[in-house]
Amino acid sequence: MAKKLYIKTYGCQMNVYDSARMADVLAPLGYVSVDDAAVADLVILNTCHIREKAAEKVFSELGRLRRIKDRRRDRPMTLAVAGCVAQAEGAEIVRRVPYVDMVFGPQTYHRLPELVARAERARGTVLDTDFPAESKFDHLPEVAAANGGAAFLTVQEGCDKFCSFCVVPYTRGAEHSRPVAAVLAEARRLAETGAREITLLGQNVNAYHGEVRGGGEYGLGRLIAAVAEIDGVKRIRYTTSYPADMDTALISAHRDVPELMPFLHLPAQSGSDRVLRAMNRRHTAEDYRRLVDKLRAARADIALSSDFIVGFPGETAADFDATLALVADVGFAQAYTFKYSRRPGTPAAEMEGQVAEAEKEDRLAALRDLLDAQQRTFNTGAVGQTVSVLLERRGRHAGQLVGRSPYMQAVHVEAPESLFGAIAAVRVEAAHANSLAGVLVSAAAAVEGAVA
Ligand code: SAH
Ligand code: F3S
Repeated sequence: MAKKLYIKTYGCQMNVYDSARMADVLAPLGYVSVDDAAVADLVILNTCHIREKAAEKVFSELGRLRRIKDRRRDRPMTLAVAGCVAQAEGAEIVRRVPYVDMVFGPQTYHRLPELVARAERARGTVLDTDFPAESKFDHLPEVAAANGGAAFLTVQEGCDKFCSFCVVPYTRGAEHSRPVAAVLAEARRLAETGAREITLLGQNVNAYHGEVRGGGEYGLGRLIAAVAEIDGVKRIRYTTSYPADMDTALISAHRDVPELMPFLHLPAQSGSDRVLRAMNRRHTAEDYRRLVDKLRAARADIALSSDFIVGFPGETAADFDATLALVADVGFAQAYTFKYSRRPGTPAAEMEGQVAEAEKEDRLAALRDLLDAQQRTFNTGAVGQTVSVLLERRGRHAGQLVGRSPYMQAVHVEAPESLFGAIAAVRVEAAHANSLAGVLVSAAAAVEGAVA
């Protein structure tokens, strides 16, 4: 009988990718994915450690799951914690929530079949938070078909930048790039199974330097050009980038590779050079502005997104104003904003001048207001335009499909089910805060491939 698997994913797109691959690894063991933990034989929480709140959520969810596990009479429930909280707090989880059966980090999910077998035999918690010498990518089954035409492909993992606020270098380990041939093979398979859009993922994706068979390396710009050659690939994106690693080849790819979508998530974090230095970011606000100019020179319509942290230790009102000034100068299509969250073990956690919570709240609200206004302006500008939309999701209402414009805007449209997974021409009729609504331009033009 099929066993039921429920995976709950927290955090970034790398975790979304990892969760899909965990399901792939477990499929040969007879596990079928379900969307309700209450009926599952194996429950995996794929966790995020980036901010305190994200980590706390895991413990409250574990409490809820424990009650289901304890009530279960007919068959056991195996409870697992994976991802970055597992990596960072493995021993703590075993101590604090001993009813968890398995704890394993992001680098070992290719060992899942063995871990599951051990957990079924063991009485205590099975813990695996190694950074193994072998790469998990060499031990995973081939990727499953892309659903809805949009697929993620991890090309790079880990980070060596050590921004002073960030846990990623500790939880995900050192920077590592997958070889070019492995990436292209996975991209080809995704395209063959229906992917029209591929998002190349990495914690620091533009640090990519994958080895080429026979010698040499490709940076991300050349990798993107090679992925664009694959039959069926119509759109390419990449995330997340580090400003100081945006090299000329990558900037040129935005001019030269039509499949590369005109949207870039490029975290700035702050507009104050003093704060950027304390954050150990290797760019100034001026570097960021100049980089944006270069990108716009390569691709005039490129839409930008960013991450910002407010209330970093020592951030003054003047520093915060510098962030507002950077945002005003650049003009973002969208952005994520965070209150600084103190992460034990990172240098910033020990810094003087921790900012009061109320002050963080005020700054967050002011920054959010500015960014929301920019996003509204950007979305309103799309009204009346015809954009190409990859219809990758079903909408809340019957007969509605949802996709993304080239600029990452969500677009809702009435469309026949036959267009699910296709790229369609949509005329935008209305702009909302976080999405657009439009109509199919014509059935003929909506046929996949008819629109660039
Ligand atoms: N390159 C990474 C980004 C790391 S985390 C990736 O996408 O995989 C995403 C964002 O979370 C960061 O850009 C930063 O803005 C925010 N962040 C990281 N650590 C934080 C902390 N301690 N407090 C608040 N925000 C944080
Ligand atoms: Fe984190 Fe900075 Fe790397 S935000 S992921 S240490 S680039």
